[in-house]
Amino acid sequence: MGTGGMHVLITLEGIDGTGKSTLHSGLGELLVDLNPVLTREPGATWVGDSVRRAIAEQADPVTEALLFVADHAAHLANVIRPALADGRIVISDRYTDSRYAYQSVTLENSIPEPLAWLQALHNGWTIVPDRTFLLIIPVDVALERLAAKSGREHFERKEILEKVQKNYLELARSDPSRFVIIDASKEKEEIRPFVAGAIRQFFLSSRSRRQR
Ligand code: TMP
Repeated sequence: MGTGGMHVLITLEGIDGTGKSTLHSGLGELLVDLNPVLTREPGATWVGDSVRRAIAEQADPVTEALLFVADHAAHLANVIRPALADGRIVISDRYTDSRYAYQSVTLENSIPEPLAWLQALHNGWTIVPDRTFLLIIPVDVALERLAAKSGREHFERKEILEKVQKNYLELARSDPSRFVIIDASKEKEEIRPFVAGAIRQFFLSSRSRRQR
């Protein structure tokens, strides 16, 4: 079935501990008939590995931010652009809004206007997602969930996650037609079919728009 060069780029965002990655893999199962490309940032490449190393070694915040942007460039070039050119639906677990939400916090003391700096770094070459599902949860609940797993990243502290989540909500407020806010404290059996249904509907409506 030809999709006529249609682009459908879906991203999942939210603080650590929202169940975002579990949702991501669940969507792969529920949307298997649409043959989506499931991908993530930081990516599964050597650039992604260097990002993980920078996180683990607590590299200086500007270095870390630039590696996240480099990872995004590689992700776009190697995975996202080719998949969209093939007419595939792409669903990414984290994307540019992660930089806008997290690095606005980590760069607070390094750069005068972190969000504007980050946006300028992306403008002109990134691809803005068609839909972004933002998982929101009380930070205490997220931290309880994270306590169960080992190997905490430096982002996973209450003060940071509070600010990151606030940044996410501001991003959503500034672009309400792209963002869909999801209450991540609901059961995954409820969230998963809702998000899958919304993606399916978006895909079908953009296809009929194209054919018109
Ligand atoms: P992950 O837990 O989804 O693998 O992401 C690793 C950490 O990196 C997570 O705490 C969020 C953070 N992160 C950023 O700070 N900026 C970014 O651009 C991305 C993609 C992730």
